[in-house]
Amino acid sequence: MWWLLKTICLVHVIGNILCLLKPKPKNPEANMNVSEIISYWGYKWEVYEVVSGDGYILPIYRIPRGKNEIMDSSPKTVVYLQHGLTLSASAWILNPPSSSLGFLLADANFDVWLGNSRGNNYAMKHVYLDPNCKAFWDFSFNEQIKFDIPAIIDFIVNKTGQKQIYYVGHSQGTLLAYGAFATNPQLAQKIKANLALTPVVTTRYLSGAFRTIAYVHPTVIKVGRGCVVNNKPPLTSLASLRVLKPLADPNELCGLWARAGSYHFRDTCSSSLTPGTAMVHAERCA
Ligand SMILES: *[C@@H]1O[C@H](CO)[C@@H](O)[C@H](O)[C@H]1NC(C)=O
Ligand SMILES: *[C@@H]1O[C@H](CO)[C@@H](O)[C@H](O)[C@H]1NC(C)=O
Repeated sequence: MWWLLKTICLVHVIGNILCLLKPKPKNPEANMNVSEIISYWGYKWEVYEVVSGDGYILPIYRIPRGKNEIMDSSPKTVVYLQHGLTLSASAWILNPPSSSLGFLLADANFDVWLGNSRGNNYAMKHVYLDPNCKAFWDFSFNEQIKFDIPAIIDFIVNKTGQKQIYYVGHSQGTLLAYGAFATNPQLAQKIKANLALTPVVTTRYLSGAFRTIAYVHPTVIKVGRGCVVNNKPPLTSLASLRVLKPLADPNELCGLWARAGSYHFRDTCSSSLTPGTAMVHAERCA
């Protein structure tokens, strides 16, 4: 019996060592951006730059038809997908087509549009503000609700000639929808249905261990703001404390989440200007 266990153990240990030495297989999509991933799976894509009322330039991706669909000029049902905190348009297409909502909807004959929140790695442009400056980052959920969602939806409605579209939000994307449709009745008229995945509005009712974050004093958060540690991506550096700011005041709809938004780890690593470095520059601009 013992020799059997020993042998199993030895095989296991040697196996693990060999595995560590072997280069890890890498997903070919690991270094691809949104349009490359869409093309990789054999779908067509389009990209449009929507300018928000306060000047942020937001690239909106479109998967106009299913993989095996022949070009057809008849109008299709439009669905707009708005990603959540720390994500980007890629959130909807990261899995294979059989399990990515963006591709599934395209194959189900929808005209699929994928948004990007201001300040994510795809949306680092403004008509006159430089992302290296603090002013670029001086926004909250409120501005996204007031400017970004209406600009995007108006653009899509206009472009597709549809009177109404479907809105699918994930997490922060649901918060933006609730805010935008509740405060802008004309905009709400353009929405056939608002579908909320993991809906969130406030951190007030957080419970469990996460609740403790809500009690961190704003001063502590401020110390973390603008700091960067050895140029590490924001999720691992002190700069990530910026992300916690909205949690410091559970009632505050502060948009830092969006800023951190779409700092998709993979995207962050392939970007020359990570949010962390952006913050260092921000301090210089101030
Ligand atoms: C995505 O990658 C392609 C190919 O490298 C490049 O041409 C394109 O500009 C990239 N798009 C973005 C938004 O970075
Ligand atoms: C709608 O589209 C037309 C034609 O492309 C354009 O001239 C107009 O400015 C657009 N309006 C909005 C609100 O985007």
